[in-house]
Amino acid sequence: MIKKLVAGNWKMNGSLAANEALLAALQPVPGVDVALCVPYPYLAQLQRRPSGFELGAQDVSEFAAGAYTGEVSAAMLTDFGCRYVIVGHSERRALFGEDDLTVARKASSALSAGLVPIVCVGETLDEREAGEVTAVITRQLAAVADLLGQEGLSRLVLAYEPVWAIGSGRSATAEQAEEAHAAMRGWLAGQGVDAGVIRILYGGSVKPDNAAELFAMPNVDGGLIGGASLVADDFMAICRAA
Ligand code: G3P
Repeated sequence: MIKKLVAGNWKMNGSLAANEALLAALQPVPGVDVALCVPYPYLAQLQRRPSGFELGAQDVSEFAAGAYTGEVSAAMLTDFGCRYVIVGHSERRALFGEDDLTVARKASSALSAGLVPIVCVGETLDEREAGEVTAVITRQLAAVADLLGQEGLSRLVLAYEPVWAIGSGRSATAEQAEEAHAAMRGWLAGQGVDAGVIRILYGGSVKPDNAAELFAMPNVDGGLIGGASLVADDFMAICRAA
């Protein structure tokens, strides 16, 4: 049985004071891996303040170092104690023009520095309604596999985040999530990797009232939590549901 991972994605939220208040209300959950993926400026605060959680970032440069103004390298993230880094979040794909190849290069950059990429895939509502869910997520996965190969794939965490469920309050049903996760697991197996060791998280309006049902699905290995990760009681309830 794979150990569940629940990662909070704070997105562009927080302040030094608010972070302290939130962290004071969080506590480790036995048997569940918990990570907090915070905005870059707060990595030092969380590194200084052991929370019992793993630390993550929400993006990383595809470049290792050099004249890339504004970029943050994977090595810099490891300097601040990061273990995870989200790559390919739909908001980065949609709002900042990250294509499948850029996402793959970011995942490669993260792996090279010893980070664990949480690679996000997921379809839009139009793509779902067109019956293209599996085609979209396997296209996104294939770009990563082409660059990383079997060894690299086996070191990833994946997150299925249907775009239409993110921030909408309308989560995928447990059955919809399981269908997509099972398709991802089958595709990974087809790539010749031990698909059973790759954690596939679900993200998209996970809340205390739906987390247990989602996490009970055989191919759901935890969650990637946005809004609810900023509310201590909600985030703890979700972690305990894993
Ligand atoms: O990365 C997780 C995020 O996209 C989900 O956001 O607010 O729907 O939980 P939310």
